[in-house]
Amino acid sequence: MGFKLAIDGPAASGKSTISAKLAKKLGWNHIDTGSMYRAVTLVALEKGINLEDESSYSFVKDLDIKYEKEKIFVNGKDVTKAIREPIVNENVSLVSSFPSVRKELVALQQKAAQHGDVIVDGRDIGTVVMPNADLKIFLIASVDERTKRRYLDFINAGKEVDLSKVKTDLEIRDQKDSTRKESPLIKASDAILLDTTDMSIEETIKSIIKLINNKRGE
Ligand code: CDP
Repeated sequence: MGFKLAIDGPAASGKSTISAKLAKKLGWNHIDTGSMYRAVTLVALEKGINLEDESSYSFVKDLDIKYEKEKIFVNGKDVTKAIREPIVNENVSLVSSFPSVRKELVALQQKAAQHGDVIVDGRDIGTVVMPNADLKIFLIASVDERTKRRYLDFINAGKEVDLSKVKTDLEIRDQKDSTRKESPLIKASDAILLDTTDMSIEETIKSIIKLINNKRGE
């Protein structure tokens, strides 16, 4: 079966960075579910469909999403950078609010998480995708700290962005993700809250490894 670790939390709380580094360190699989919702959003934008119309997302079931060496490919095309563009950030919460889109992606995620030790990160992992996970972590950080982190992501990717716009975008996305009807962003009752506002990546990884070891020793 393997150890199943669920990591959820708001935008730019560090889920994907922490999960990727932790998976590398432990030699576990990592499933970044946010990248799947981003990929669907990118394809929807490229197709020029009416983003508000749930029935125009029938293409999702035929999408070929693959991960290779920290890159994501959709229908054979490398979209690793494109899915992080501001235009995708602005539309992904709408796209991920549709039950039929979620149904397709959750099925893919559950299948991918079936075997071995795995870290799955997202918004509904502890509540919907892996309700029986061995360990659930809800990762948070103050909105100013998260803004700083996401701003630096953009700068490091060579993009000029406005700090206050980054903050507003995060707040809007959190609001949409937390209040949607279908699988909202919410801490599972049995998840452990980890506030990383004043923690480095290394410190966060260390405390998660401790939590894993505690669980294993139970
Ligand atoms: O990296 P960041 O926290 O900015 O976002 P992400 O994890 O890549 O997720 C992007 C968006 O996908 C979120 O804002 C949600 O709208 C959606 N999402 C979701 O609905 N359910 C998930 N399990 C993961 C992401």
